[in-house]
Amino acid sequence: MRPERPRPQIPPSPRNPWAFLFSLLLFSGLLVGCAPEERPYPPDRPTTPPPGLSVREWGEKIFRDQGCAGCHDLGGTDGAGGTLVGILGRERRLSTGEVVVADEDYLRTSILSPNAQIVAGRPAVMPSYRDKLGPAEIDALVTFLAQLR
Ligand code: HEC
Repeated sequence: MRPERPRPQIPPSPRNPWAFLFSLLLFSGLLVGCAPEERPYPPDRPTTPPPGLSVREWGEKIFRDQGCAGCHDLGGTDGAGGTLVGILGRERRLSTGEVVVADEDYLRTSILSPNAQIVAGRPAVMPSYRDKLGPAEIDALVTFLAQLR
């Protein structure tokens, strides 16, 4: 009588981990696609200004490094996104017809979710910086913009 062959152990299917990873990716992709407001800030962003810079100066550096200046002129000229000189406390008419006062929350929202409040007569072309900047960098930008006179 032949010895009973050991039942072949089913090795864990190599596809499973990939399927798992794939669905994880898909899921996070869905999260990103569906709820931009809920997206976490990117990790590993600096939390303090580079040595020698004040928070406001750091904000100005970020403004230039991130290309904000390409659409927002600092000299008071009207770029694609309009000038941001003297923005704090100014009334903004939105595409919905609503009029809001540009406080620090408004500035913050403009950077994180540009399409949440679109300035009337302007194209909705501004990218969100939620994926690019950390909370301290956003704070620095807002500090800079709030003092832009
Ligand atoms: C591709 C061009 C573009 C870039 C780059 C850009 N913006 Fe904008 N931005 C716009 C446009 C267009 C608007 C007006 C439409 C809207 O409200 O989204 C706007 C609106 C704003 C507003 C509200 C302005 C108002 O008049 O009430 C703020 C604040 C702002 N941007 C800040 C920034 C900052 C800070 C950066 C860089 C981190 C930046 N933008 C980068 C195009 C741009």
